[in-house]
Amino acid sequence: MNQLGRTVSYAALALCVACSPESEETADMSLESPAALLVAHRGASGYAPEHTMEAYRLAMEQGADFIEPDLQITSDGVLISLHDLTLDRTTNVADVFPDRFREEQFRGETVRRWYANDFTLEEVRELDAGSWFDERFAGARVPTFSEVIELARGQAGIFPETKAPEVYGDRGFDMERLVLEELEEHGLHRENADPATPVIIQSFSAESLQILRHELGTELTLTFLISGGQEAEAWLSAEGLAEIHEFASGIGPSKGLLLEHAGAVDRAHQAGLTVIPYTFRAGSSGDFPTVEDEMAHFIFDLGVDGLFTNNPDLFPRTPREAGS
Ligand code: G3P
Ligand code: CA
Repeated sequence: MNQLGRTVSYAALALCVACSPESEETADMSLESPAALLVAHRGASGYAPEHTMEAYRLAMEQGADFIEPDLQITSDGVLISLHDLTLDRTTNVADVFPDRFREEQFRGETVRRWYANDFTLEEVRELDAGSWFDERFAGARVPTFSEVIELARGQAGIFPETKAPEVYGDRGFDMERLVLEELEEHGLHRENADPATPVIIQSFSAESLQILRHELGTELTLTFLISGGQEAEAWLSAEGLAEIHEFASGIGPSKGLLLEHAGAVDRAHQAGLTVIPYTFRAGSSGDFPTVEDEMAHFIFDLGVDGLFTNNPDLFPRTPREAGS
């Protein structure tokens, strides 16, 4: 697909939600509303081990507008692409480093955890991040953020997530600064630095985004993730959305929240925020017959601006594709 066309659409999308709902400009632009963005959640993670180069490559082959690296930090301060704080679910760390665990209490049981931040990058590079998913992917590695940026460069956008920044703060790491430094290394720290590789930083931590926007002064597009829970309703109110607009350009709610809170998409747009919900997976589409139908409902009925999916190949670009 034409990635450049998609990234241009993103710029139009940002403009569209930023203009006043009453203005004539809004009415004109809504007639040409840009296509929704396909964000490959952890890469094409429905078909390849999440957060590996294999998953990201496949996502781009399947037409992803953005690939999504979740970020963790090694003991020597390198950002890596990994969802969990620990390496044990998605690598063979327990086999390679059998003694390097921490013991924790979990649901009344003592469990062993291998924290990514207890390992150097060189050690992380020894791990197999593919076999747990399928033996076909044996030998896949945990990539660095830098490697993911290089892979995406010129082909797709990147949508990095600051994961558990407070945990890393307690360990003496400044995740937000590291992210911006890495982007600067690649010349991507300014908005629209490379239209073929737009950057959107996301986080469940409002504080992390506030640091990025106000303390570190980034102009990059920021998206605030909202999961279910007590605070969600407050964030999705007109007042909550106005508060989010102080530090972010969009929201990334769980898809269930948008079904529970009618009008949340329109309210967010009126507040000048884009809406990109997560996570759409084949075989887990709730009351919808297929994930294509589910994604089509969110895009064409609710009017979201994009979505995170494990199945980029099933993303409906037009209403007709759904259910066909
Ligand atoms: O970042 C959007 C979505 O990925 C949030 O959920 O847990 O998969 O990072 P998670
Ligand atoms: Ca994520």
